[in-house]
Amino acid sequence: MYPEDKLAAIAYGDDVTLTDQDLASILNGYEEMDEALFMASSIVLDRTLGRDTYLHGIVQITNECQRNCYYCGLRRSNDSQPRFSLPFGEVMSSLTRGYNAGVRSFMLQSGELLDERTVGLVEHVLLEVEKRWGDKVGIALSIGEHPLSDLERFKSKGASRYLLRIESSDRELYMKLHPRDSIHRYSSRLDCLVNLQGSGWETGTGVLVGVPWQKDAHLAGDLRFMQRLDVDVCNMNPYVVHDGTPFAKERRLIPPAEERLLKYLRMIGLMRILMPDINIPISARLLSVHHSGPMRALKAGANAYMANLTPAKYRRNYDLYGGKPAETNSIEVVVNDAIRLCENVGRPVKLLDPGVSRHYRKRMEEKE
Ligand code: 5AD
Ligand code: SF4
Repeated sequence: MYPEDKLAAIAYGDDVTLTDQDLASILNGYEEMDEALFMASSIVLDRTLGRDTYLHGIVQITNECQRNCYYCGLRRSNDSQPRFSLPFGEVMSSLTRGYNAGVRSFMLQSGELLDERTVGLVEHVLLEVEKRWGDKVGIALSIGEHPLSDLERFKSKGASRYLLRIESSDRELYMKLHPRDSIHRYSSRLDCLVNLQGSGWETGTGVLVGVPWQKDAHLAGDLRFMQRLDVDVCNMNPYVVHDGTPFAKERRLIPPAEERLLKYLRMIGLMRILMPDINIPISARLLSVHHSGPMRALKAGANAYMANLTPAKYRRNYDLYGGKPAETNSIEVVVNDAIRLCENVGRPVKLLDPGVSRHYRKRMEEKE
C-alpha cells in the first residue's frame, strides 16, 4: 500500500501500520501527501481526544543557563542578553493572574541551573501552589537535567510533570548540537528521561526540527524514540537561527523557513497518528516566527497551547531564537489571545482543566 493510501485508511479508522519507509516518504512529503497526512492526524485527534485544546501557562523563572547548546540564545556564552531571575512574589503573582483567568495547567521554565537557590525557589513555589490550589492545578517543570535527589524533592512538593527535550534522539546528531563535555552528555540526558518516565512523572520530551545536518531519517528515528520511551507529551520546536549563537554560521546548511515549518507540522501529524492519546503542545512563541504556525500546528494534530505568562518586562529577554519582539501584553490579554486563536481554528480552549495527558492517565492505571 502506498503511504498516501495508508493515510486515507487511517483517516477512515482502519488499523494500519506505518513502516519506517512510510515515515520517511511522508516526512519528505508533497502537497497531496500533506493533505492526506493532516486530514488523517486531525481525524485521529478528534476521535481520540476530541476537539478541545489544553491551555498551559508558562512562567519563565530565570533565563540563566549553565549549558552552552550551540543553537540556543540562552547559552551561557551569549553575553548580549541581560539575565533575569524572577523573585518568588512575581512568580506567584503571574500564576495567580493566570489562575484567575481560568488557567489550571502551569509550567515553570528556565535554563539549566542546579544551584540550591534555584532548587529552593522552585520548591517554595510548588509548596505555595499546593497550599493555594491543591489538585485543581497541574504543575510542570522544564528546568533542565536535575539529579535524582532534586527530582524527588520536586515531586514530594507536588510537581507531577517534567519536560526534558532530547533535542535529537540520534547520539551523533545530538553531539553535533552540543559541546563535548561532561554537562552535555547524551547518555545522562537519556538516563534522566528514562528515569522520569519510569518513576511516575508525566513525561514530556521533544526535538528540534530543521537543525543543521538533520535528515528525514533522523526525524523518523525521533518518532520511533518517542514510541519506545512511551512518552506522555511530545513538545517539538522548529529550529530558528539565533544570530548570537555558533550555529549562526551554519545558516547555509538549513532549509528555508517555510520548509522547516512544514517539516515540523509533518512531525506533529505523524506523532499524533503514532501516539494518538499523548499531549502535543505548541508554543505561542511560534507566532512571531511564522504567523500562521500555531494555527497550522493545531490543524495538524497539536492539542495544547503554551501561553507565556511571564511578566511582560522580562519576557523579551527569554530569547531562544533571537529577534524577540517587545511585547507589552498583560497576562489577561495573553490568555485571551490564546483563547481567540484556538477558537478561530475550531479547537477551543478548555479552561479550568489541568490538562493531564490521557496517555499518562492510562499508563498509571495500568501500573496499579
Ligand atoms: N530554535 C528553536 N528552538 C530552540 N530552542 C533553543 N534554541 C532554539 C532555537 N534556536 C528550544 C530547545 C530547548 C528549549 C529551551 O528551546 O528545544 O529545549
Ligand atoms: Fe540552556 Fe536549554 Fe538553551 Fe541549552 S537549550 S542553552 S539548556 S536554555
